[in-house]
Amino acid sequence: MAQYPLDFSAFDKVLFAGIPDDIHDDLSDSADLYDLYQTFRKKAALSTDYNAEIMELVSTMLERTTPSNLQRVIGYMNKRREASAKMRDNEFVTDLVNCKDSADLARLRDKLASLKWNTFLYTRLIGSLREIKTPEEIALMRKTVSISAIAHAEVMKAIQPGMSEAELQGLQEYVHKKLGAEYVGYPSIAGAGANGCILHYEENTRVNIKRDMVLMDIGAEYHGYSADVTRTVPSTGKFTPQQRAIYDLVYRAQEAIFPLCHEGIPFSDLNKKATEVLAQGLLDLGIIKSKDQVYLYYPHSCSHFLGLDVHDLGNYDQDLKENMVITVEPGIYIPAGSGCDKKWWDIGVRIEDDVRIGKTKYELLSWQAPRRSSDVEQLCQQKSAVNSMILPPGQ
Ligand code: GLY
Ligand code: MN
Ligand code: MN
Repeated sequence: MAQYPLDFSAFDKVLFAGIPDDIHDDLSDSADLYDLYQTFRKKAALSTDYNAEIMELVSTMLERTTPSNLQRVIGYMNKRREASAKMRDNEFVTDLVNCKDSADLARLRDKLASLKWNTFLYTRLIGSLREIKTPEEIALMRKTVSISAIAHAEVMKAIQPGMSEAELQGLQEYVHKKLGAEYVGYPSIAGAGANGCILHYEENTRVNIKRDMVLMDIGAEYHGYSADVTRTVPSTGKFTPQQRAIYDLVYRAQEAIFPLCHEGIPFSDLNKKATEVLAQGLLDLGIIKSKDQVYLYYPHSCSHFLGLDVHDLGNYDQDLKENMVITVEPGIYIPAGSGCDKKWWDIGVRIEDDVRIGKTKYELLSWQAPRRSSDVEQLCQQKSAVNSMILPPGQ
């Protein structure tokens, strides 16, 4: 039905989802998404140059911009302008890159708020509905995370020197399917040795992991709900002393964060705690010279919402609440060439677990995959059934 009896032009505000520019008209269907959107645009008197994606970007930037990071934001926006005519032609982007101080920023915020249309607020409000999971959603989260943790545990048993990254990925995804998951929650990462230090390494193309340690960030999607689990496993079944030192430090950071995972704790406290523990540990190991260098080796943050998306929508500027589901994922990555003793180079460790926030304590959803270094080593000693699968040689 391309027509509907609502006159949005009579409303003071119209909140709506940013609909991408690239939907096309299916001419055989007079009520496809394109037609509905065109009708909506008319009824909401949406100006033809309103670009939802750009307006959301400007809103997000304005929310994060302060006089002290203004120049960096302008630099970023100018790069985006170089790459896109739509960005260059947008009045609000131009206003933003011309801001000089907090008064200009405040004026631009007011200008944005006075618009009739708002996609940013829509995303914020819808996102907030996804923060606290219903009992039915919690059941699905337990299931998807359990499937993922079992896959990690099975691969700890199966891993051997000489396997390929893709084989490890394939084994994990096979277990997902065997246990009923339809998809992966996000592109799987299996990075051996130096590849474990590349944050979004998704190629998984190394054909021989040799005797290296492998970082696997692999989670299932079950009935629309995504898990997000990372384990870092020595292919030999035994960590080297340097690998163990880094692994145990990341583990200690996780252990320090878990007790904070309950209602009433500000979300930002989790990453503060991770940063504090990792900084002290790296300092003690002589890898950094001062605590502010921690970001050289810990370049991300430790927690995000999890649910329908792997990075689920939600507001991070708030206290934790019962039945939120979040990740706890500290990590340390020391690529070759780093300014520390060579013995640490090419070690990348992340341990990532999924937890349900409780009233006074947390529920570890990914408990079926061991985390402690000694437990990982112990499971590596067991054999997986896949190790006895003998296939004929390929042609
Ligand atoms: N797998 C994506 C993340 O850990 O955030
Ligand atoms: Mn994550
Ligand atoms: Mn992950």
